[in-house]
Amino acid sequence: MSEHVVVLTGAGISAESGLSTFRDAGGLWEQVDLEDVATPEAWARNPELVRDFYNQRRHQVLAARPNAAHEALVNLENRCRVSVVTQNVDNLHERAGSSHVLHLHGSIMEARSALDPEEVIELGEQDLSPDLTCSRGHPMRPNVVWFGEAVPAMETAAQLVSRADHLLVVGSSLNVYPAASLVQFVEPGVPVSVVDPDARLHLPGARVIRKPATEGVPEWVSGFRAAFSI
Ligand code: APR
Repeated sequence: MSEHVVVLTGAGISAESGLSTFRDAGGLWEQVDLEDVATPEAWARNPELVRDFYNQRRHQVLAARPNAAHEALVNLENRCRVSVVTQNVDNLHERAGSSHVLHLHGSIMEARSALDPEEVIELGEQDLSPDLTCSRGHPMRPNVVWFGEAVPAMETAAQLVSRADHLLVVGSSLNVYPAASLVQFVEPGVPVSVVDPDARLHLPGARVIRKPATEGVPEWVSGFRAAFSI
């Protein structure tokens, strides 16, 4: 099966696993000001507040489980080439079994040296703390992309989308750049589908499944498999 499906996911795919989205009613950015926890300035100003924010979210990720949407993408991966490009920092795609996952905004399960971005560790059960320092004694920070920081994976992500035979967007408001611009890299004529109960952004020609991810993604996968007899 030569078809290459690229799936661009956002916080909405993890919502039914119990993880908050950012911009829905009651979302994370209503609970806390992103300027206080998700910028390099916030880290310089109050690292303890930033560490607490990411420690709490990581505990929620550890307690969460992949849902039927994550699992449907694994089901598809067993039948054709699937590349997941996620804005999410959780590890639910990997825990479901997806083997090609590109994290545009990093991973909450990792920490990196505040001095050397190449020095990265897997946090596992340990928390970020002032005592957790890198090999040169500098603090370890969340290995995520904060607002105002570069998105190193963007070029790879754009190449993947430009080579997609099908693009599926699941659970993203497409509010944040450069991630949101990825939909522009798809070749003309490549089918684009969106799974989102409140899809707002109009993508010309896109097929919109206005359902939660745990219903809409399995539905899309079933239709795709039937269409290609896989
Ligand atoms: N199933 C599918 N989609 C859902 C569900 C669900 N159960 N619940 C909510 N959604 C949709 C919402 O309608 C919305 O379109 O998920 C989207 C969530 O949008 P955001 O909260 O803006 O999340 P996201 O698009 O991933 O944000 C992008 O912003 O703050 C930064 O770094 C952060 O990666 C994040 C980026």
